[in-house]
Amino acid sequence: MRYQEFDEKIEGLLAAMTLREKIGQLNQIPEPKTLEQAEAYKERIRRGEIGSIILASSATAGNEKQKNKGAAQEDGQQQKNAAQEDGQQQKNAAQEDGWQSNINTALRNELQRVAMEESPRHIPLIFGRDVIHGHHTVYPIPLAAAASFNGELVEKCYRNIAREAAAEGVHWAFAPMLDLSRDPRWGRIIEGPGEDPYVAQVMGQACIRGFQGEDLKEPDSLAACAKHYIGYGASEGGRDYHRTEIADYSLYNYYLPAFRAAVEAGAATVMSSFNDISGQPVTSGRKYLTDILRGQLGFEGFVVSDWAAVQMLIRFGVAGNRADCARLALHAGVDMDMVDGCYGENLEALVNCGQVPEEELDNAVRRILRIKFAKGLFDRPYCKMRRVDRAGHLADARTLAAESMVLLKNEGVLPLEKDVTVALLGPFVHEKRSLLGSWTLDYQIEDTKSLLEAMQEKLDREHILLSADETGLYDDSVQKAVKADVVLLALGESWEATGERRCLSDISLSAPQQAMIRRMKALGKKVVGIFFCGRPLAMEGVAEQLDAILYAWHSGTKTAEAVCDILFGDVVPSGKTAMTFPRRTGHIPLYYNVTSSGNFVNGYYGEELFPCYLDSVTSPAYPFGYGLSYTTFAYGPVTAEETCLSLGELEAGKRFRLAVTVENTGSFDGKEVVQLYIHDKIASRMRPLRELKAFQKPLIRRGEAAEIQFELGWADLGFYTEQGEYLVEPGSFDIYVGENCLTDNCISIEIL
Ligand code: NOJ
Repeated sequence: MRYQEFDEKIEGLLAAMTLREKIGQLNQIPEPKTLEQAEAYKERIRRGEIGSIILASSATAGNEKQKNKGAAQEDGQQQKNAAQEDGQQQKNAAQEDGWQSNINTALRNELQRVAMEESPRHIPLIFGRDVIHGHHTVYPIPLAAAASFNGELVEKCYRNIAREAAAEGVHWAFAPMLDLSRDPRWGRIIEGPGEDPYVAQVMGQACIRGFQGEDLKEPDSLAACAKHYIGYGASEGGRDYHRTEIADYSLYNYYLPAFRAAVEAGAATVMSSFNDISGQPVTSGRKYLTDILRGQLGFEGFVVSDWAAVQMLIRFGVAGNRADCARLALHAGVDMDMVDGCYGENLEALVNCGQVPEEELDNAVRRILRIKFAKGLFDRPYCKMRRVDRAGHLADARTLAAESMVLLKNEGVLPLEKDVTVALLGPFVHEKRSLLGSWTLDYQIEDTKSLLEAMQEKLDREHILLSADETGLYDDSVQKAVKADVVLLALGESWEATGERRCLSDISLSAPQQAMIRRMKALGKKVVGIFFCGRPLAMEGVAEQLDAILYAWHSGTKTAEAVCDILFGDVVPSGKTAMTFPRRTGHIPLYYNVTSSGNFVNGYYGEELFPCYLDSVTSPAYPFGYGLSYTTFAYGPVTAEETCLSLGELEAGKRFRLAVTVENTGSFDGKEVVQLYIHDKIASRMRPLRELKAFQKPLIRRGEAAEIQFELGWADLGFYTEQGEYLVEPGSFDIYVGENCLTDNCISIEIL
């Protein structure tokens, strides 16, 4: 029991609370938009009707163009009236720094003061915000960060994020998003770990540890929220909010592992997802929210609904009115109702007439209070806005951005010499906002350089012969491009093509950008494509035209500098794709951990006796785990200290110990993501042809070799049945260790 120490206090409070006060704890409201609204909120807080405030004024705040300015900043007077002695100092401290918080900390403190001093039980509010991949300092979108395959660095960056956000009064971040997705058309693919359950576990845990720190109650920690539980990334056609079909076998083996790991890492909260699974909305799915999440995964924190998702049960056609919505969602296991007010309006009557057992309500209150106690809110409810030194955070953002970028192709062009002449063209030459990515509310655009600005720090002005974002090139531009040693094309997609409700039916590079590539190629120049994207794009017809491709993603505040670090060889690329790059949109879904078909039609692994499609080759443009370096690595054979273990030995904790020697055979020091995949060859259920089970990312100096050791045990070699039972079966397994999922460097082991 993680939160047992608070039981006594919680029971004491519960015994004293009225029904209405209990329901208040379950009620989350959006931040006030006006001063009048703030006053009305205070009244409700005084009556104990509000338990939490989400510091956002819309469901898709992170998609919004303008920074979310929050409420009541129109009126400086209000801040003084907030009666916090340090209110004015906070304002001044912020202004000295040259920036001001988007969060009205003084108003936030005033609302908290009302809760602490004037509400019946003096229970603090918990303030949540969509702090997804950065606060003032923005780190790579999570899909890019996953490509770094560097959990320690990700954890460090999320610690930084927590420090910045907590300093402005945020208690609770609505991240990490752990939605496995095999569909890059889905706009929210940017927010998650990609297609692999293991990467999702590692990255999710790194983010949770980073946010929550050593102790949740420390002032610089944020409570994490593992979301969206569950199956949201499987929406049909990559269309946001659409239905999903997930058989329990797939649920347990693909979609749940990241949440299981999040619970193990101590995630304080979970957000239920918008979608339905095979006709069961998750918001009313007791099987998912109670039986599996709490019963099987052992989650002890609280569940918050997604934005207005409780009332959506009406549109789903499973509830006739808002009272039904409240009854169904609470029974399913949704503890806190995000913004739609269904709980606040209906639960009292439902309990009074016996349709909702009071014990069900009490349990939800208990879970919310646990996290309020664990977060230390009773002892430290207010926010003293602190100046956070961000120099180290910005440096980490640059390192993670560079480690996240993937070199997809390099025909001897990169790295560039320091005295090269370049023509810099394309729609992202001057762009800044897109480099930050979607779902970021608090960025400081002043921290962000455009590609041209970053390039000017590496090259003298006369070496940049041209910098233009036009796509229809004029003769003059062409003349200049001809004179350059190399043409650098800044390509990709706008941040506004990604995020919530921003799905695409075609993930090709836009036609003008493709035309531009062809035009430059026709000049006989070396052409490098730098892709600023939120998702893998379909690469057919594009990759062939380019001499080098650096996939830079939307990598946050330091994207442009990190690109230049790589282009000029100051950093050796080390990112690997955490999601398959299809050749064409029509090949989606295309993912590496596929099972074998009964016939020879498995395009991913080159088995195409019978083509999947008559009109195209279905192997990926770039497979999962793929990425080049400036150096080369040679893998020795996989060796095993033991090739046979009995089931009993494994269960008792014995492990297969495996090793591989990786030699840096090139001329740069470099990091390599050494990946270990398993294939359970004959099992009672079909098992994937490859499953990532471990990776390491050592730095290997040129001319040196490293012995990389792995261990595989009980927890790595089994799978879940459709009932959620974990099975390890005897039989033989192929263990692959190599540079990406297509490696054939393999050894067989046996479980007896
Ligand atoms: C809806 C999104 O699905 C969720 O991820 C986000 O945290 C909430 N809106 C709150 O903004």
